[in-house]
Amino acid sequence: MQIAVFSARPYDRRFLDEANQRDASRGGFAFVYFDVALDVHTAALAQDCAAVCVFVNDRLDGPVLHALHAVGVRAVLLRCAGFNNVDLAVAKALDLFVARVPAYSPEAVAEHALALVMTLNRQTHRAYNRVREGNFMLDGLLGRTLHGRTVGIIGTGKIGLATARIFKGMGCIVLGHDPYPSAAFGGIGDRVGLDELLARADIVSLHCPLTPETHHLINDASLARMKPGAMLVNTSRGGLVDTHAVIRALKARRLGHLAIDVYEQESALFFQDLSGEIIDDEAFQRLMTFPNVMVTGHQGFFTVEALQEISAITLGNLQDFAAGRVCANAVGTG
Ligand code: NAI
Repeated sequence: MQIAVFSARPYDRRFLDEANQRDASRGGFAFVYFDVALDVHTAALAQDCAAVCVFVNDRLDGPVLHALHAVGVRAVLLRCAGFNNVDLAVAKALDLFVARVPAYSPEAVAEHALALVMTLNRQTHRAYNRVREGNFMLDGLLGRTLHGRTVGIIGTGKIGLATARIFKGMGCIVLGHDPYPSAAFGGIGDRVGLDELLARADIVSLHCPLTPETHHLINDASLARMKPGAMLVNTSRGGLVDTHAVIRALKARRLGHLAIDVYEQESALFFQDLSGEIIDDEAFQRLMTFPNVMVTGHQGFFTVEALQEISAITLGNLQDFAAGRVCANAVGTG
């Protein structure tokens, strides 16, 4: 069976090929790798493939799903947890198999959230450059001791829990908000309403999925409810945050720090080398001008362990599809 892998970076090839070779006894699959993202123009590349394997910024809206179906594709394998980029109603109408990787090293993303907080708080990125230039002045590098500070976790699922455990271990007071709370959070922190979390937290970290309900969860009104000088961290999905509202809060000196690994318009930027290009996204360029903003290009998941898990689970999902079995990781249509 041939599978078209879109948005395939060298590390995707490496880990998918390794997983495929490990499972060769079960027949193995023929992966055809494409660097380009899946959209209505590239869907035809999946000709002769029974399945497509995609990532966060591939488009799987109605027209793309119809185009894939027309060339014979019957399965969509997401190499990620979120599935906000798939039109599930159309997938269901076309009887497409859709499966995701619901969990892979939640600690990888949680640890990246911590890395962002620590970097921005202690300015280690600036210290690194300063010391290399022979400047050993400390002015501008003043941080806050995190021990004893309050961290608010919005979405206390797998990644939110892992993040909460880390901050609890650092001696922080942990608050959590989740309309569908897990019992596991009870032993780590206090469950509170969203308004109370925003009002009390020194650091607000987003770990809920992007849904119509959570779109622009962070907007002018919610930013106004946050503590002056607080830090906002988003390692979940860009659409949770209204970028223009955040820029207004930064300009007003109300939002103290912003750390993001995801960005609402990231599909035009992330996972590409644009260092020689002019970037037209004015909001992104404005964010880059703030010294108290740190952006990474959706690398929260990017550890060896997580990539191995993603590949192994994707292979398992593919085997379920090939065998016509019920798949535990099927989304919406399964
Ligand atoms: P999960 O499904 O285990 O947890 C999500 C939690 O959010 C659930 O407990 C759910 O009840 C809660 N939630 C739903 N609506 C909410 C709302 N309105 N307010 C507060 N909480 C709400 O998912 P997991 O594995 O923890 O992943 C969370 C998100 O992280 C994913 O949806 C994905 O967007 C993002 N992610 C980012 C990665 C990166 O590389 N930066 C990698 C993997 C996931």
